[in-house]
Amino acid sequence: MKIAALKESAPGETRVAITPETVKKFIALGASVSVEKGAGGSASVSDAAFEDAGAQVTAAAEAVAGAQIVLGVQAPDTMLLKGAADGAWVAATFDPFAQTGRIAAYAKAGFEALSMEFMPRITRAQSMDVLSSQSNLSGYKAVLAAGHEYGRAFPMMMTAAGTVQAARAFVMGVGVAGLQAIATAKRLGAQVSATDVRSATREQIASLGAKPIFVEDVAGIEGEGSGGYASEMSEEYQRAQAELVSRHIARQDIVITTALIPGRAAPRLISDAQIATMKPGSVIFDLAVAQGGNVEGSQADEVVIRHGVKIMGYSNTPSHLAADASALFARNLYNFLSAFWDQELGKPVLDEEIGNAVRLTKGGVIVNERLK
Ligand code: NAI
Repeated sequence: MKIAALKESAPGETRVAITPETVKKFIALGASVSVEKGAGGSASVSDAAFEDAGAQVTAAAEAVAGAQIVLGVQAPDTMLLKGAADGAWVAATFDPFAQTGRIAAYAKAGFEALSMEFMPRITRAQSMDVLSSQSNLSGYKAVLAAGHEYGRAFPMMMTAAGTVQAARAFVMGVGVAGLQAIATAKRLGAQVSATDVRSATREQIASLGAKPIFVEDVAGIEGEGSGGYASEMSEEYQRAQAELVSRHIARQDIVITTALIPGRAAPRLISDAQIATMKPGSVIFDLAVAQGGNVEGSQADEVVIRHGVKIMGYSNTPSHLAADASALFARNLYNFLSAFWDQELGKPVLDEEIGNAVRLTKGGVIVNERLK
């Protein structure tokens, strides 16, 4: 069983899907591992470290030659997979709802595309979930990046020259990224509040020492769709939420938005009119900018100034923390493949629940229910 990992080819992608730690673990399972030269460079992993762990470090074509499993952060173009074994598995993120052309190409090439974004949200798959591991780091980085642009301090400071007021930070969307954003802003000394459409998050917000800001008195505000994801809200709810946010946001210094609804454009949470009510010098970090944005006017990888407020967001936030993001991503992939490893066959054999959830293509066709 040969496992290969290539240098990521997408612009701005600095992560790598395998690390020396997971190389050793795959070898311990009985696999051989090939890594493209320079694959870890932008994530602070040297070729020598891969070699010391037991990997062959070679040119891309040689790394892929005969590989039965190819690992990626973002799925490589099928052109780069020429020479891989027939029906090889490619475990990576595929952005399945947007990248329909790429998925068709995978089907045509006969590969088995395993989309890590489609990992089911069940307890036993938590350690395999790249969305969680990467979102957690993104929530942290969003607060630091916003803090960097903010012309004031986060904590209250009493100095001989007078008192510096604590920043007020508001987190909108309290999933994995939002929870980490709350924790990070708290650690930095901000006064933190947060909101979500899922009422289950109210307790989680309070348990981190932040103030929950929630729509009250609107029927059917549960907001929980399947698998712990949010569902789209009623118009009545959206109106009530907009009013609540308008009142609250005018007093905030830092706003972090993280709201996503799977398979849809990100919900709009902050309008230009609301931004106009904020104090000059405030900063909004839109973590959903690459999915259409939660904030009117946000542009990926730019700091846009509207009404004196800085609006920012990265197209690929985990890539700004490449070393840690790669370490967690690589462990997610290892946890996934090793959980299904059949020692006798010397390869992983997926079960139905997880296999059917993540498998996009097989035997030349698209097989995933969510894509049909
Ligand atoms: P996500 O990235 O899909 O969305 C981020 C947050 O935005 C969610 O909390 C969502 O409710 C919220 N949101 C959506 N629309 C909104 C709106 N209009 N206004 C305000 N907030 C809005 O969610 P994420 O971070 O992936 O996690 C969601 C839940 O799933 C969490 O409870 C998490 O613990 C759970 N989870 C469970 C896993 C497992 O059991 N294996 C793995 C990953 C997450």
